[in-house]
Amino acid sequence: MAVNLTALQVMQDAPVIPVIVLGDVAHAVPLARALVAGGIRMLEVTLRTPVALACIEAIARDVPDAVVGAGTVRSAADAQAATLAGARFAVSPGYTHAVGRACHELGLPLLPGVATGSEIMAAQEDGYTELKFFPAMQAGGLAMLKAWQGPFGDVRFCPTGGISPANAADFLALSNVACVGGSWLTPADAVAQGDWARITTLAREAAALARAPAMHE
Ligand code: 3PG
Repeated sequence: MAVNLTALQVMQDAPVIPVIVLGDVAHAVPLARALVAGGIRMLEVTLRTPVALACIEAIARDVPDAVVGAGTVRSAADAQAATLAGARFAVSPGYTHAVGRACHELGLPLLPGVATGSEIMAAQEDGYTELKFFPAMQAGGLAMLKAWQGPFGDVRFCPTGGISPANAADFLALSNVACVGGSWLTPADAVAQGDWARITTLAREAAALARAPAMHE
């Protein structure tokens, strides 16, 4: 998967994309290895902390089996910085044409965040059909995704925000859901304590979740 990674491949690699917030560069590599050991390779490191880019760099350099991406990409500058750091894909909490254009120009697969029909249409106008539904639970959850199956039947979603082991299977059962995103694979206390075995267990459980058959054809 070294070349021509697509947003669809990012979504289809595993049922869950972990949303990772790192405050210490020293945690990046062992955390990434722990997730990969559990079968989760697509890793979204959010650009929310001062060390986020350094963490992306470290994972890109030292964990060849991981595919590291940048989350919380909100500007063209974010997309450029993430690419320079070694990010292989980007995830954004919302959508702007500027972010869409920048990612196209960089060749950086993007999962744009959407929460309304108008946002879906704006992203589709720019060629994006694999979208993050954010914040999923707060913006309508399962019912919203079901309502979108009719008018937006060509869109595949990665619902993120409020997804947990308790409801992930319900989302993954929908034919327009390719995967889900969530922070539950990397609990802050486990990261702080260096409890990588717990993170591998959480990753293994997430990797074993079933998905709707339509997404694997
Ligand atoms: C985020 O951007 O923080 C994600 O939506 C994660 O949400 P979660 O903590 O509810 O999984």
